[in-house]
Order: sequence, then structure tokens, then C-alpha cells
Amino acid sequence: MTQETAVLSAKPEMALESAAVRKVFVKTYGCQMNVYDSDRMTDALAKDGYVATDVMEDADLVLLNTCHIREKAAEKVYSALGRLRELKKKKAGEGREMMIGVAGCVAQAEGDEILRRAPAVDLVIGPQTYHRLPEALKRVKRGERVLETDYAIEDKFEHLPAPDKAKTRARGVTAFLTVQEGCDKFCTFCVVPYTRGSEVSRPVAQIVSEAQKLVDGGVREITLLGQNVNAWHGSGPNGEKWGLGELLHRLSEIEGLARLRYTTSHPRDMDDSLIAAHRDLPQLMPYLHLPIQSGSNRILKAMNRRHTTAEYIALIARIKAARPDLALSGDFIVGFPGETDEDFADTLSLVETVGYAQAFSFKYSTRPGTPGADLEDQVPEDVKANRLERLQALLLKQQHAFAEQCVGKTIDLLLEKPGRMPGQLIGRSPWLQSVNVDAKSSQIGDIIRVRITGTGPNSLFAEVVS
Ligand code: 5AD
Ligand code: SF4
Repeated sequence: MTQETAVLSAKPEMALESAAVRKVFVKTYGCQMNVYDSDRMTDALAKDGYVATDVMEDADLVLLNTCHIREKAAEKVYSALGRLRELKKKKAGEGREMMIGVAGCVAQAEGDEILRRAPAVDLVIGPQTYHRLPEALKRVKRGERVLETDYAIEDKFEHLPAPDKAKTRARGVTAFLTVQEGCDKFCTFCVVPYTRGSEVSRPVAQIVSEAQKLVDGGVREITLLGQNVNAWHGSGPNGEKWGLGELLHRLSEIEGLARLRYTTSHPRDMDDSLIAAHRDLPQLMPYLHLPIQSGSNRILKAMNRRHTTAEYIALIARIKAARPDLALSGDFIVGFPGETDEDFADTLSLVETVGYAQAFSFKYSTRPGTPGADLEDQVPEDVKANRLERLQALLLKQQHAFAEQCVGKTIDLLLEKPGRMPGQLIGRSPWLQSVNVDAKSSQIGDIIRVRITGTGPNSLFAEVVS
């Protein structure tokens, strides 16, 4: 059959399909990898005639893509499910069916519990089995309540469709690309090794092909994702061993791909070739998310982080020697079991020493099944709250200082979306800041030279440099 006849004969089917259009509403909680996974699930469902909707009430299928990292995140799911049960009942009264699915790390960790506690849920699907989603929905249609949470042997990425051009265009000029999943580090506070399983790296060819598709769809900046992204490893064209540094080199050869980032990294896995990539690749943005979690060596040991504060500080010095304009971001946990006032003071002093452009900080949340949950000496809630407040005040001060320090600098700005005022656009700086600029003769996707003129509460202001 020629291509033309294929197109002609496809027409009546398309008409039939549009009559049977079904709508999916996906709510994403948690990390960037969930954002990426939600898009892949939406793409997989598109093949079955589902279109995405932003209006939950209109949906034939509601999918909650959940996060289990802290107790609060997991509890949000159950309250959302309570509201969804009412909506499902209301729609059933109007003769409209609505399926409810729970995906993500809560699905993986508490699948049976969800089915028991939330009778309105039709489907529970863990992160390793998203490629089975269309089949699972068929089983739901046949009246089953489905639980798919085994660690699939087959590679989910081989089966999940890569983003097509139209969808990529609609999603904007920056994109995530998962290159690695799972974690073998077993920090004693963290559920990830249990919910996402052990480390798996995607093969080079799969990653390059997906990156190329994203660029063909207008993407200018790609952030490589992995729970422990710098543990990514693979093989080069001649079978030689590649680490993330080599992968970044390969991706930087893609024409039109202007910017690369990667997240989240473990300090133990920053190897020489990755540090060299920061020196050698102009596409690799000078911004690194490198969590340490605590500034106390005693607590780092109890957390099983397998590095000291001195090693972390020395590592940062090496990366900064390779890329002097590098800015840092981090994650911190306060109130890990046994954390004393002195340990906390060490965290504040580490933050002072390093100086972060941005950082995320959390109260320790006991996660069932992790070694931290069995430790005695849990820190009282009010102590955690007080420490968090003090740490966040310091981090915010550093974030503002970093922004102030940008004023007067001329930088490259990737234009991402329209601003509030006519002619105004919002762009992304090399250090992940939002920057407002009047740039009437430029368009989204352009990278332009601008001078930073001022700071606002959450963004910067700039003028075009001709
Ligand atoms: N309690 C609080 N914060 C946690 N994180 C991971 N597990 C916990 C927990 N049990 C934080 C860490 C990690 C980030 C993604 O979430 O700082 O880097
Ligand atoms: Fe969790 Fe990150 Fe530690 Fe892995 S390295 S266990 S994902 S905190």
C-alpha cells in the first residue's frame, strides 16, 4: 500500500475514533520524574483514543501520579481519593462512568492498602509497569480491580511511546528526559530504593533518539533525570564504558540542543569525566543540584550517606575549578533521629561555607520500612519546626544574595513563555531563575543576550542587549 492510500483509508477510522474520544485527567505529585512519567502515560493512552483534559469533572479516567517521599505527600493521595469518590458517585448518578487509577510511588508502596481503604479505586499501577497501562484499563473495563506493582522484567521505556512532535511543541522548549531510574544507595531515611527499585540505566541509543525527537519538536533545553542520575552508565559505539560525562558529550552533538542539565546527583558518584564535562561543554549549564542532607558528619553516617562534609566541600571546589560560574542547589533534612543542637549548628555552618543559589529543606518524616523508622531518639516535632524555620531563613537569604549578585550581569536567556504584559516574555537563566524581559522582536525558543536590571520576589528583570 502506498502512503497516500494509507492516509485515505485512515480517514473513516479517524472519524470513528473522534466519536469515541475519551478524556484523561492526570494529577502529578512529587518530583520531576513523576512529571516525565505522567507525560509518558498520557502519550501511551493517546494510542487508545484518550485526550488529556485539565478539567477533572470531564474525565473518563482520573490518574493520580503519587509521591511517597514524605508522609504528608502520601496522605494527600488519600484525601484526594475521598473527593474523587464523591465525584465518581455523582457522575454515576448522571449515567457517566469514571475510572480512578493510582500510579507512582504510593501505588508501589501501599497498593493493597489503597484498594482496601479506597473502594472507588479501579486500578493501582507502580512506576515500573506504566507500559502495561492500556492493557490494565481493558481489564478494568471487564470489571476487574487491577493491581500492577511487580518490578517488570521488560523495559518500560522500550514499550512506552516517545513524545511525538505535536505534543512536544505543546509542552514547550524545555523538557525532561529520564535516563536512569532507581537507587542503590539506601540512605536510611529514604523510600526511593524500595519504591523505584534498584538502579537501571537506559541505553545510549534510546536516550539519543528520544533527545533528537524532543529537539525536532522544538525543545532547546533538556534536563536528564534519574533518582541517582550520575550513577548512569552505558556503552559507547565500540562497546567502551560510558558514564554520564560521556553521555553528555554525545548529547551535546545534537544540533539545535542548546542546553543540558542533569538531576539529582549523589556526591559519591561525581566522577572525573563528569567534572570535566562541566569544563568542556558550553551546553552544560553552570548549575548543579548536589544534596548533602546534613552538615554533621555524625548524622551523615547515621543517614548512610557514605561521605563527610569535608569530602563534599572538596568536591565542590573541584567542580568549581572546572566551571567557575557554577551555582549550587541542595536538599537538607532537619530532625533526623538523634540530631542534636550541635549537629544542627553544623548544618547551618556548612550552608554558610558552601553558599547555595537555591535549596530545598524538609523536616525528617518517618517512612515505614526504612531503617530510620526503627531508630530511637526521634526528634520532637516542635524542635524540627524551629530548626527548619532557621535553616530556611538562611537559605532564603542566600537565594536573595545570589539573585542580587546577578544584577548588572549580561547573560544568555532562553525564552520560555509569554509574560503578563504585552511584549513581555519570561525566560530561564543558566542558573534556573525566571527572568522577565521586554523582547518584542524575539520569540519563544530564542536564546538572547540580556542584562539583568533588578530582582523581584521570585524572579529577575532584564533588558535586551543589542
Ligand atoms: N523525610 C524528609 N525528607 C526526605 N527526603 C527524602 N526522604 C525524606 C524523609 N524521609 C528529602 C531528601 C531528598 C529529597 C528528594 O527529599 O532531602 O534529597
Ligand atoms: Fe534516596 Fe537519593 Fe539516598 Fe537514593 S541517594 S536513597 S534516592 S536520598
